[in-house]
Amino acid sequence: MSNSYDHDDGKPGFFARWFFSTNHKDIGTLYLIFGILSGLIGGFLSFQMRMELMEPGFQIFDNPHTFNMYVSMHGLLMIFFLVMPSLIGGFGNWFLPLMIGAPDMAFPRMNNLSFWLLPTALICLLISMFIPGNPSGDGFAGSWVMYPPLSTSGHSGPAFDFVIIGLLAAGFSSIFGAINFITTIFNMRAPGMTMHKMPLFAWGILVTAFLLLLSLPVLAAALFMLFFDRNAGTGFFDAAKGGDPEMFQHLFWFFGHPEVYIMILPAFGIVSHIISTFSRKPIFGYLGMAYAMVSIGVVGFVVWAHHMYTVGMDVDMKAYFLAATLIIAVPTGIKIFSWLATMWGGSIRFAIPMQWALAFIFLFVVGGVTGVALANAGYDAAVHDTYFVVAHFHYVLSLGAVFGIFAGFTYWFGKMSGYLYNKYLAAAHFWFFFIGVNLVFFPQHFLGMQGMPRRYVDYPAEFEFYNKMSSYGAIVTLIGVLFFLIWVAEAFIVKRKAGDNYWGEGANTLEWTLPSPPPFHQFNTLPRIK
Ligand code: CU
Repeated sequence: MSNSYDHDDGKPGFFARWFFSTNHKDIGTLYLIFGILSGLIGGFLSFQMRMELMEPGFQIFDNPHTFNMYVSMHGLLMIFFLVMPSLIGGFGNWFLPLMIGAPDMAFPRMNNLSFWLLPTALICLLISMFIPGNPSGDGFAGSWVMYPPLSTSGHSGPAFDFVIIGLLAAGFSSIFGAINFITTIFNMRAPGMTMHKMPLFAWGILVTAFLLLLSLPVLAAALFMLFFDRNAGTGFFDAAKGGDPEMFQHLFWFFGHPEVYIMILPAFGIVSHIISTFSRKPIFGYLGMAYAMVSIGVVGFVVWAHHMYTVGMDVDMKAYFLAATLIIAVPTGIKIFSWLATMWGGSIRFAIPMQWALAFIFLFVVGGVTGVALANAGYDAAVHDTYFVVAHFHYVLSLGAVFGIFAGFTYWFGKMSGYLYNKYLAAAHFWFFFIGVNLVFFPQHFLGMQGMPRRYVDYPAEFEFYNKMSSYGAIVTLIGVLFFLIWVAEAFIVKRKAGDNYWGEGANTLEWTLPSPPPFHQFNTLPRIK
């Protein structure tokens, strides 16, 4: 008898396959679909923000609180619900077991829990947008950094409690995921797959998992303390009760800085594979590439207060955090130059994934250079909380991490779906997106240097020129996103079969992907309910 739970042939039905899934590929697919959906919501919020900022005066938002709520939710959605689920949950689940020759993840049922905590978390965040935040309006408008007292006495309504609960759920999802990845890598590599033979994407996921494991509990602790300050009368961050609001910033950024590398290290891994494949050369300086990621991870834990130069810390502390931050440019430089050296003398093919990967390198360098500028406490004091910072971290994230996601998606789409995509539609996606996001974010450097502050719904007429350019860029980017949706839909409708080696002979050898058994022979055949 056939039902939606389990079929006679031992294959799971729709419900069992997608809701009770313990299969790493199916869970990876769920993460990717979830990431795309969250990205569309987060993108919609930022598009509204850009349309508001098209010209001075109020266009869309009659309430500045709502604008800042959009700012806050855009940040949280893009970080926790687009970038992390796609790069780590999506590609990590799909390809890490394949690359190290493991039959699946170490804890398949915990893997299922990791995924399903995320929609739960997302629902909490979405609910928060429609319930009272404070007397000014609905939702939480205190930015993704959630500093008290704005996040405590400044948001007396229940909205922020929903945000806290949602972020705790997302945080635990990532902690479970990190435990799973670390255990899988250490215990389940195929015979002969030593650590120093692991593909660089696996190295990226390993370092990322350690960062998650060590940084997220600190965020969770800070969120719990906020929750108690708000609801249980404690005063961890309340100066009037002997607490310290600055302490929250230290806890937050102890998580927040490693979080930046959590979002970029898997992309480093993906880009390494793509550069190697489409240059038809093994990656240059493999061990240096692997240990550059390790050292970025380690040093990334001791630089956090470069986000807090303006809180009034003493000059010795500033000097330390400045120097430590600059040191990270060294392993990052090793990576950039090794990618260039991989291409040097290679037989380069500008296939779609290669375009994304090369654009990644260019954009990440731009974001890295402004990062080095911002690491200097003196310069940071001048542009702190201006659009210069917004431009900087969007070059690293929305143009770095997101380009890494599209690089991986266009590279592995054939392996994941079994279909080939139309390269002209995919190229239109790339070019509209590439030109669009640069148009959005490059002028923001100039806005920042002119002194336009972040998180404001309105601005004086002097800032109109670059804001307009930035907002037109959002429209170009939107066209790029539409082409993305179109090429994915087209590929699934037309169903051009992808061959075993669809990037050409030898590509798989360079990529080191090992075969694994097909899904149905793994862990997700469930016992039938009698
Ligand atoms: Cu940082």
